[in-house]
Amino acid sequence: MDRLELFPDTTTIENDALTIAGCDLSALAAEYGTPLYLYDRATLDASVTLYRRALNAQYGSPKYGYHYPAESGLTYAGKAFLCLAIAQWCRQQDLWLDCSGLGEIVIAIAAGVPREHIVVHGVNKSPADLEAATRHARIIVVDNLNELERLVSLATSHSLPDLWLRFQPGLAVETHAYTQTGHADSKFGMGRDEILEAARICRGNQLPLKGLHFHQGSQFRDPSPLGIAIEKTLDLARSLDLNEDWVLSPGGGWGVAYHEDELPQPDVAAYVRFVAEAVKTGCQKCGLPLPRLQLEPGRSLVARAGVALYRLGAVKRTAHRTWLLLDGGLADNPRPALYGARYSALPVKGPERPAEEMVWMAGPYCESGDVIIEGLPFPKVEAGELIAVPVSGAYHLSMSSNYNAARRPAVLWLDGGHAYQIQRRETPADLLRRDCELPANSVEKG
Ligand SMILES: Cc1ncc(COP(=O)(O)O)c(C=O)c1O
Repeated sequence: MDRLELFPDTTTIENDALTIAGCDLSALAAEYGTPLYLYDRATLDASVTLYRRALNAQYGSPKYGYHYPAESGLTYAGKAFLCLAIAQWCRQQDLWLDCSGLGEIVIAIAAGVPREHIVVHGVNKSPADLEAATRHARIIVVDNLNELERLVSLATSHSLPDLWLRFQPGLAVETHAYTQTGHADSKFGMGRDEILEAARICRGNQLPLKGLHFHQGSQFRDPSPLGIAIEKTLDLARSLDLNEDWVLSPGGGWGVAYHEDELPQPDVAAYVRFVAEAVKTGCQKCGLPLPRLQLEPGRSLVARAGVALYRLGAVKRTAHRTWLLLDGGLADNPRPALYGARYSALPVKGPERPAEEMVWMAGPYCESGDVIIEGLPFPKVEAGELIAVPVSGAYHLSMSSNYNAARRPAVLWLDGGHAYQIQRRETPADLLRRDCELPANSVEKG
């Protein structure tokens, strides 16, 4: 069954029910409630191995005649999903961790991620972000000239981490407009002239400029625009007078299949080969030393390891539709509303039942856009059944909200037949924790 390929590697059907990592999903839902998010550790580990193997195989071939073996590495983009356990997993996997600002830096530190693995990104870093980055990171990726001015001031009292400059290559990859980041007029990064100015400021102030970064967008499957962006970046690097040990970070963004129509899964090895070849041939052409190549994937490391489990509360048949009303949706997964993202699903019990009708799956929230699945062929199911939505590991919980005072779901880490809770479900008390009462006299006046 194609749809099963969207699920984590350890997914099996036993006693006519889905299991992941040897865990009985109905038992987990009974113990922890729904909506419930599951992360399969084996799938997470396998995704890192896939990237690492491809990087080792593709980058640094002696035929190019530079200093070998060339270095390469993986940074996990924490914005895809970050919590203490995921940061601990990054530490254990020796991944660098891309933190967007103070909040993610705090999580990295709490998990014991070492300073030399922390990379700080951000398009308008606050003074608190810059302060935390200066104290705790190995690298700050400078987004704009105002930020660089602030770093020049900070350098008078702190020793700065290494700096990379974020280049805006001015090219779009094929993806939703809201996940484009490297095109001309994007809010991210600096154009060529600004990068040259930034490099001049770094030199003039003896700031440790060590690399260049760009990121063109997220959820693309055609790497060819990356080739042009790499060429432009290498051409820029030639003008910057970087040391031999410079770093090139071409971001992340490699896509995943969310729906069986999009299978097979985009090939990570082919993506890495494309990038590695573009860097090697580009450096040879420009006479540049090979940089350390640091990839920065988020989604393609964690999306397929995650599954969202919902309880079906009601089946509603309107003139033209069958609605399956779930107990989660927009608040834990805003991607369909934001990007028109398409998903698939299976019932946990009897997942191999034949499809009998087209269904629309919606959540309980007070928005017509709270629809996570549109027009999916599905078996006849009844209220009370569990529905599993695959490829739910990236940009769901990290973009989740308390809309309608929804409580964020619990998250479980599934590993070898065991389930460990890594985030508990929010409680009603959590919802009130930040709130302060109005003074009594103000309430009376109102
Ligand atoms: C700077 C940067 N690096 C890496 C990523 C990760 O992208 P993805 O999760 O699509 O791999 C993003 C996502 O927007 C990003 O902005």
